[in-house]
Amino acid sequence: MDKPKSPTVYGPTSDAAERQLPSKVTVPGLLQRKAKGQKILCLTAYDYPTARLIDEAGFDLILVGDSMANVVLGHASTLKISLDQIISATRAVKRAVDRPLVVADMPFGTYHVSNEATISNALRLVREGGAQAVKIEGPRFERIDALVEADIPVIAHLGLLPQSINARGGFKIQGKTIDAAKQLLEDALTAQECGATAVVLEGVPEVVATRISQRLIIPTIGIGAGGGCDGQILVFHDVVGLTTGPVPKFAKRYAHLADEISNALGKLKDDLRSGEFPTAEHCYPASEEIPADWDSL
Ligand code: KIV
Repeated sequence: MDKPKSPTVYGPTSDAAERQLPSKVTVPGLLQRKAKGQKILCLTAYDYPTARLIDEAGFDLILVGDSMANVVLGHASTLKISLDQIISATRAVKRAVDRPLVVADMPFGTYHVSNEATISNALRLVREGGAQAVKIEGPRFERIDALVEADIPVIAHLGLLPQSINARGGFKIQGKTIDAAKQLLEDALTAQECGATAVVLEGVPEVVATRISQRLIIPTIGIGAGGGCDGQILVFHDVVGLTTGPVPKFAKRYAHLADEISNALGKLKDDLRSGEFPTAEHCYPASEEIPADWDSL
């Protein structure tokens, strides 16, 4: 595979160009990463400040996931999120980021009716939201074909499918038997044949996900699928400790922001009650001497 070309720099050589800032992540760039054995680092984001931090930290891909329904909007499942909500969040993320690839989730119901409806919904994510690729759940090969034909890069999401919670009777780990693993492999290979950019493997035994990753040319991005995938994705709120309740088995908490925020709010409350805040340093001066009883002058 060819080495990726460095981005063209127009005008005088800038400091940034001299420092050789890493180039933007593109859809073909994901494939090159896999070929070079570079892990693809992914996180979810649904807003501007989070996306900025993720970009600055050097992650490759940001998913505006329908997990926003759970972790931001307080719904019990991902089924409630609308296309307009994902578009709005994608716009905010796009405004924040420079380098990572921005992928938008297609919400439940937006790719279930027909190829035509799927394309027009995905086009909204690309044109209004600025998404560079979309993600759909399940082995929906006809839809993947149609999206690729319409020049919309698509990531297939296989394994545990949160949007199929009703049909499958809950969040079910997939590929737990040899037969089920073979079916998963076949689905991943078919998604690849249809032109999918990558495959997200969620909730799959490590040995199964590792073998699928070896068999595919396109990258696999794992969540709850062990360390053998070509990349990993996690929900931002799980990683930084902003979700309530125990951290899911597949995630790891690297910070406890909910505790930090509670502490900060407790201190603010105390200061407000005691009058420690605000003090003179937080006030604006007048432009002339104004006595306290100025209203009687
Ligand atoms: O919405 C989401 O966060 C996802 C990840 C779990 C892959 O789809």
